[in-house]
Amino acid sequence: MSPRSILFVCLGNICRSPVAEGVFRHALTQRLGPERAGLWTLDSAGTSNYHAGESPDPRSQASTLRHGIDISAQRSRPFEAMDFERFDFIMVMDSSNHVNVSNLAEASDHKGKIHLMLDASFPGENRPVPDPYYGGEHGFENVYQLLAEASEKWLDQWT
Ligand code: 4NP
Repeated sequence: MSPRSILFVCLGNICRSPVAEGVFRHALTQRLGPERAGLWTLDSAGTSNYHAGESPDPRSQASTLRHGIDISAQRSRPFEAMDFERFDFIMVMDSSNHVNVSNLAEASDHKGKIHLMLDASFPGENRPVPDPYYGGEHGFENVYQLLAEASEKWLDQWT
């Protein structure tokens, strides 16, 4: 399968989408090996600029590190319309992200690139990755588990 470009999107780009990017890269590397995995383009972004330039939330970093994945080098940035040109797939964490990203679509093929991340695990259910920002540690572990499972399911389709 030829390499793909995938952007993971949430609201702040400090909690869910950095975990999605890190967990997906890890799963991709396990499957394809570092050389082939390195040909894929992976990134994450937020529909807001609230945390632009910041590192992932310490609780997100801890949740992935517990599973051997280091996301500390990531920095938050806002989603921009040009991302529709750069990426084949725009993976959103919830329906609110979906609406916000759709509103920036300019070309007819743009909206078709947007997918709910959990659609691969729960087809047709419109399930969100719950925003863990105002909750406790358990929410972050739940996010990790949901994203790890969804990553495997998308990889079943893409590789
Ligand atoms: P994220 O979580 O969208 O998963 O990065 C949030 C982070 C920050 C805020 C909301 C959600 N905030 O309102 O600052």
